[in-house]
Amino acid sequence: MTAGLTVRGLDVFYGASQILFGVDLEVARGTTVALLGRNGAGKSTTFKAIAGVAPPRAGSVELNGQTISGMAPHRIARFGIGYVPEDRQIFPEHSVEDNLKIAVKPGPDGKVHWTLDRVYQVFPALQSMRGRMGGRLSGGEQQMLTIARALMGNPDVVLLDEPSEGLAPIIVAQIAKLIGELRAEGVTILLAEQNMHFCIAVAESVAIIDKGQIVYRGTVAELKRDQEITRRYLTV
Ligand SMILES: Nc1ncnc2c1ncn2[C@@H]1O[C@H](COP(=O)(O)OP(=O)(O)OP(=O)(O)O)[C@@H](O)[C@H]1O
Ligand SMILES: [Mg+2]
Repeated sequence: MTAGLTVRGLDVFYGASQILFGVDLEVARGTTVALLGRNGAGKSTTFKAIAGVAPPRAGSVELNGQTISGMAPHRIARFGIGYVPEDRQIFPEHSVEDNLKIAVKPGPDGKVHWTLDRVYQVFPALQSMRGRMGGRLSGGEQQMLTIARALMGNPDVVLLDEPSEGLAPIIVAQIAKLIGELRAEGVTILLAEQNMHFCIAVAESVAIIDKGQIVYRGTVAELKRDQEITRRYLTV
């Protein structure tokens, strides 16, 4: 059994058009892997397929050796996938703390690793805003809240879809630092990004997706040395 997330041969269609072609990914427990690719490459679709929102027509997704593809999204969440979608989906009329409390559930092992206190330790900014309405947070604050909210469900693997999108550089740096801290806490992370620099700071290995196919796999250090790959598949 492999501990972590294993994605094999995913084909996903929207109606008649095929979006993903045999996508393979491996995220070992405790590591951070970045899925890089340009606009429309298929990053979000890959995440939706893993989370069960866009069920694959072919292929499989395994979490810690158990097949989760084919299950309904809520069951996949219970199995330990914490999905943070692109459009942050904060509850605007609820306080920061309520947004966190709504998401409380034990992990797949039945245990609670992430209490409100521990989340506030990693995200002190959220503690000082605990009473503020979700709708009154800035984009960066909302991004922090969605990541924190995913942790409240004690996931085995967190899927972060473009956490740096639309944020000012200084906020992007803060989010990168946070993800680094989560990694240090042992959280397993699959991160989708267009921003290569962001990934270099937080991930150890990368996969590049282009037109729905994985076209490159390597360590962050290898990718940094390969300017041809960067030029061909990524916006710098
Ligand atoms: N609901 C949908 N119906 C039909 N086509 C879709 C749908 N959602 C996405 N697509 C198409 O699927 C392809 C992959 O989209 P996807 O959102 O996975 O890309 P992405 O890599 O996440 O891009 P971005 O960086 O812009 O978020 C694109 O060509 C997109 O137009
Ligand atoms: Mg996307």
